[in-house]
Amino acid sequence: MFHKLLMNRLTKRRTAASGGSPASRDIARSRPGLMIAFRLLALFCFACQRPLPEANSAAAQLYARRCGQCHHAYAPASLTAAMWRIQLEMMEGKMRQNRIAPLTDQERDAILGYLTRNAEHD
Ligand code: HEC
Repeated sequence: MFHKLLMNRLTKRRTAASGGSPASRDIARSRPGLMIAFRLLALFCFACQRPLPEANSAAAQLYARRCGQCHHAYAPASLTAAMWRIQLEMMEGKMRQNRIAPLTDQERDAILGYLTRNAEHD
């Protein structure tokens, strides 16, 4: 939504710049900087997804820390509890492959508990 707003603005500027008046040439000249700014913004917006459930809890923070190292921490509601169990095992494999410290039993329990509580209902 935020994105669309920015893109609209950008397109409007671009149309103005093709007009050819001295003022619009100025805008055209300043556009490379603008483009970089927008790209950066778009990049950061990968990170600004919907907040995790129980966002302030220790479990959510552990989940974000341990499962958000290689990709964003997926929304718990995107999988069912049964799928999370399998996914977690596969991810432990990935962690081993990438020589990332394995989950301790406690961490696994906390993360699985967190994901299961907030999982998609089947
Ligand atoms: C070492 C890096 C790494 C860590 C740490 C990691 N993952 Fe992943 N994850 C991946 C990769 C790579 C993929 C891409 C799919 C694949 O290659 O299997 C992925 C994909 C996923 C997917 C998407 C699967 C799909 O079908 O789209 C989910 C969900 C996921 N990971 C959950 C987790 C959870 C939960 C944790 C924490 C326990 C975790 N990941 C930690 C590397 C990692």
